[in-house]
Amino acid sequence: PSLEKDFLPLYYGWFLSKRSSENLRKTGQAFLDELASIKVFRKEAKALEDPKAKIDLTGYFVKRPPGVLHCTTKFTDYGKAPGSDDYAQQEAVKSSYGKAFFLTISALFITPRTAGARVELSDQQMLLWPGDVDVLQPAASLPKGSRAHITLGCASGVEAVQTGIDLLEFVKLEKAGNKGEEIGEIGGGRLLSYGNGLWMLQLSKKIEVRCVFSGYYG
Ligand code: A2P
Repeated sequence: PSLEKDFLPLYYGWFLSKRSSENLRKTGQAFLDELASIKVFRKEAKALEDPKAKIDLTGYFVKRPPGVLHCTTKFTDYGKAPGSDDYAQQEAVKSSYGKAFFLTISALFITPRTAGARVELSDQQMLLWPGDVDVLQPAASLPKGSRAHITLGCASGVEAVQTGIDLLEFVKLEKAGNKGEEIGEIGGGRLLSYGNGLWMLQLSKKIEVRCVFSGYYG
């Protein structure tokens, strides 16, 4: 018997390779820059009075994840979060630990709080997705995997956990039949506005990122 007791990470997730991480950051950056130049967006952001005024979205989403980007599966909080032990003991989690994956990114989104990339999980990847995280309070359960995302940035004072909650907000609107207002084609895809500062770029060509499934201990 081992003398050491296993302890759980802060969170489990897919960690992008350095190269995929750098590329995705650049793609996100290009999206923010292009969005800042679009008339309807500028109007909503109240920057029309001075057409030359630059909207600095990069400066707005000032809290960016350090190191390589990741897609959180389960936030276990070193074992303190509900459902942590059950998750950690799952066969799929144990056998996938340290294994390589390709994640598919289907869209980029921003809200007044966060910027992120929407991740489309395969059936195999869905086995690593917890059963209790696709819930938008109060009491809206959304399809499994709805929350899967990669945080690209948060506004000042906003915690990273908000990005997943914001993505669930889009999914809730979609589920209610709101497909967003199509603003037009921009570099990379179709730009949709959902109101209240919710914007999504549906990528015409989905992005594949190389990842390793693992735990982050902080
Ligand atoms: P996300 O997965 O949306 O990026 P922090 O930097 O705040 O300690 O968070 C570390 C990671 O864990 C981030 O990726 C963050 O959000 C995620 N995270 C933090 N708190 C929670 C939570 N309560 N539920 C789910 N994910 C969380």
